[in-house]
Amino acid sequence: MTQRVFSAMQPTSDSLQLGNYLGALVQWVKLQDTHDAIYSVVDLHALTVSPEPELLRSRTRATAAQFLAAGVDPDRSLCFVQSHVPQHAELAWILSTFTGMGEAGRMTQFKDKSAKVGESGTNVGLFTYPILMAADILLYDTNVVPVGEDQRQHLELSRDLAQRLNGRFGDGTVVVPEPHIVKSTAKIYDLQDPTAKMSKSAVSPKGTIEILEDPKKVAKNIKSATTDSGSEIRFDREAKPGVANLLTIYSALDGRSVEQLEADYEGKMYGHLKVDLADVVVEYLTPIREAALDWIESPDRLDEVLAQGAAKASALAQGTLDRIYDRLGLVPALHR
Ligand code: TYM
Repeated sequence: MTQRVFSAMQPTSDSLQLGNYLGALVQWVKLQDTHDAIYSVVDLHALTVSPEPELLRSRTRATAAQFLAAGVDPDRSLCFVQSHVPQHAELAWILSTFTGMGEAGRMTQFKDKSAKVGESGTNVGLFTYPILMAADILLYDTNVVPVGEDQRQHLELSRDLAQRLNGRFGDGTVVVPEPHIVKSTAKIYDLQDPTAKMSKSAVSPKGTIEILEDPKKVAKNIKSATTDSGSEIRFDREAKPGVANLLTIYSALDGRSVEQLEADYEGKMYGHLKVDLADVVVEYLTPIREAALDWIESPDRLDEVLAQGAAKASALAQGTLDRIYDRLGLVPALHR
């Protein structure tokens, strides 16, 4: 049987950033060729950061638009909004009853995020966030989950929960998912602070390359990227994190290996690398940006794609949920 892929992104920003694209979206598009693929905009997850309603709505559509613009093909893959498929929240409840408090409390993203907002700003949803994520994955009998490095621990929890359910209720209750994390692009770093990951919610917008950003600004951010005081263009994550990050991005978009780039830039200055990389990035992102803006400008067409995706996803999800409810001993709901 064809293996199933599932992955998702949060609509927490007006635009995705290059880390989302290189760490995950590129793989999503590739895996469509070999796998049965399902991709979601996880708006229920985004509620944990209390977004403004109008922003949440526009960002949800903009995120889906960028999936499609980057090459997610709705004729081959399902693309939908999480809140349109109520089974996600239902399975999350079930899984929460199998998750230990300590286990959830050990999640480093929860610790980081709750430390940032303090106890009074931390809602329970932020704590149970990885359980909803496990529900997203297990609901579709997912085999493979393409994500960046920062999601590794969350995926480990999904695997632990899957194994726990199978241990208790028998093999085949749920499918145990495998992470798909491509090492070279698993963590793209901030241009201003190349020891921190590039993020949609970065402190300084200058450190981020946004897919929907004006190309001039993208180029400017790359040209003002932090590099070290030396001059040699060499991949050294420890000693030259800024240069290493630029080489990673360059290689991922241009196709030349990092070794080849090092050879091609021998004797050249950081400035050369940055100017060339700015061109490469702008040229690469321009068609994606334009296609995304087209989708954003036709919300009816976009909503139609999302509705079709949700209808199919919901049918699959209900099948899995019925199986799990049955194994758990819940009485069948005959009215459905
Ligand atoms: P999110 O929305 O923060 O990020 C979406 C995807 O982008 C990857 N990513 C990066 N990869 C490389 N370098 C970076 N700097 C970088 N920044 C982000 C993330 O690893 C992710 O793959 N919890 C998830 C959303 C989610 C999900 C799921 C993912 C909810 N349910 C089920 C997979 C399966 C998140 O917040 O991703």
